[in-house]
Amino acid sequence: MSGEGGSGRDRLIVVSNRLPFAFRQDADGRWRAEAGGGGLVTALLPVLRNRGGMWIGWTGATEEADALREALASAGAGAGYRLEGVALSAEEMDKFYLGFSNEIIWPLFHDLQSLCNFDPAYWRTYCDVNAKYAEAVMANAGQGDFVWVHDYHLMNVATELRRRGLKSRLGFFLHIPFPSPDLFMKLPWRLTLLQALLEFDLIGFQTALDRRNFVQCARMLVKEVQIEGRGQVLVARLRSRDVRIGAFPISIDFAAFQRGAASPEVTDKAAELHRLLPERKIILGIDRLDYTKGIPLRLKAFENLLERYPDLRERVSFIQVVVPSREDIPEYHRLRVEIEQLVGHINGRFARPGGWVPIWYEYRSLSRQELLAYYRAADIGLITPLKDGMNLVAKEYCTCSIEEDCVLILSEFAGAASQLYRGALLVNPYDIEGVADTIHRATAMHPEERHARMRRMRNSIREQDVFWWVDSFLRAAITKDLRAFPQPQGQPLEDVSEYQLPF
Ligand code: F6P
Repeated sequence: MSGEGGSGRDRLIVVSNRLPFAFRQDADGRWRAEAGGGGLVTALLPVLRNRGGMWIGWTGATEEADALREALASAGAGAGYRLEGVALSAEEMDKFYLGFSNEIIWPLFHDLQSLCNFDPAYWRTYCDVNAKYAEAVMANAGQGDFVWVHDYHLMNVATELRRRGLKSRLGFFLHIPFPSPDLFMKLPWRLTLLQALLEFDLIGFQTALDRRNFVQCARMLVKEVQIEGRGQVLVARLRSRDVRIGAFPISIDFAAFQRGAASPEVTDKAAELHRLLPERKIILGIDRLDYTKGIPLRLKAFENLLERYPDLRERVSFIQVVVPSREDIPEYHRLRVEIEQLVGHINGRFARPGGWVPIWYEYRSLSRQELLAYYRAADIGLITPLKDGMNLVAKEYCTCSIEEDCVLILSEFAGAASQLYRGALLVNPYDIEGVADTIHRATAMHPEERHARMRRMRNSIREQDVFWWVDSFLRAAITKDLRAFPQPQGQPLEDVSEYQLPF
């Protein structure tokens, strides 16, 4: 055992950039834990609660005070699993999180190479911080534990753990897309990073396309690698060991969202929204503030709709919620200004005095109840990222459409498209007129077609919910016979050399 993990039972040790709680200090010096949001937290929390284990991540603080350790212990006791904090200095946050993670990997892996700032100092700090996370794992993991590392902030952790002699099984899941070789090759640290990923025993991607991109990069950069197998999980044979590579589309807690959406409070709030916007089709966009979400182009598509289909004026209302995020990065600040100018421009152009305002814009985080009420009330979900690992908003929206009477318009470049393409109206987010025409089509869709499409999507999300996701990832790590894996719905996974857009 390398730590105190020898409890007899093999545990799950989750490692992610952030802990599922953010710790903030009150004026009186006491630390308070605030439960976090976000896809990863939503996905793993119910699972860790049932199974027990530990979560290692950044506390949100730059220090390691005793009082903070107490707050961690008490938040962990409340949550039902242990929390282990990693403290990061202001400089580390700057170069590791804002810098390498969010000014290099994030834009590059979302096909936006022109936004990358390939500063070599960022890479050095990224390696140092990954080593810090590895130290925290070493202090806690036992030989039988399964260590599950998450996302692009921590791609170097397995290298650091193996260097320190840890023998436990290591899994990695990438929540964002993996780029095509022509983009990945631009990364100055491409070989080191690819080899670092191959130090894990299982690497999970969101879609068949991401996995295919990774396989192609591995074939180009690592001479001895042989990729074998078919179905959901492939095997990369290296000289001394095998690495499993799978596609596992992340999902949501379908039952919890459905239950929440049907609650009397949410039903009342949704009805209230319709009272405020009488006789209108409600179109809804909900995104974190991020240039990958395609918000300015979406607003332009809405403007184009009002221009080319004047009969829809005063008959549609577009609610666009933008959740604040990464505001310390200049690109995000610029994006907010651009969005707000566009909203002002479109409302200024089409609003009627004392009456209709086409875009209802909110820049804030929503409470869970508000979120569910917006989903429940919206007639059309308009989700048009330029590129997205999965996009859980799409799945949440469908799940909350409990009357199955709504339409999802979805970017073909969201990972969710490979699962929901039989029910959603797929669009190219760069095609402003195409998106406008699709909104028009959605407003006129026959109820029978709406029901059939929504039912198909909801059945698929119900069958492959977040518990299915966790279960299939963990089974892929431990199962002996990989042929036992059924194919997930959506894109065929047999042939890694081919991927077709989902239409
Ligand atoms: O989609 C990737 C992701 O890291 C999510 O896990 C997270 O919810 C979101 O981006 C926001 O990330 P952060 O605020 O930690 O940069």
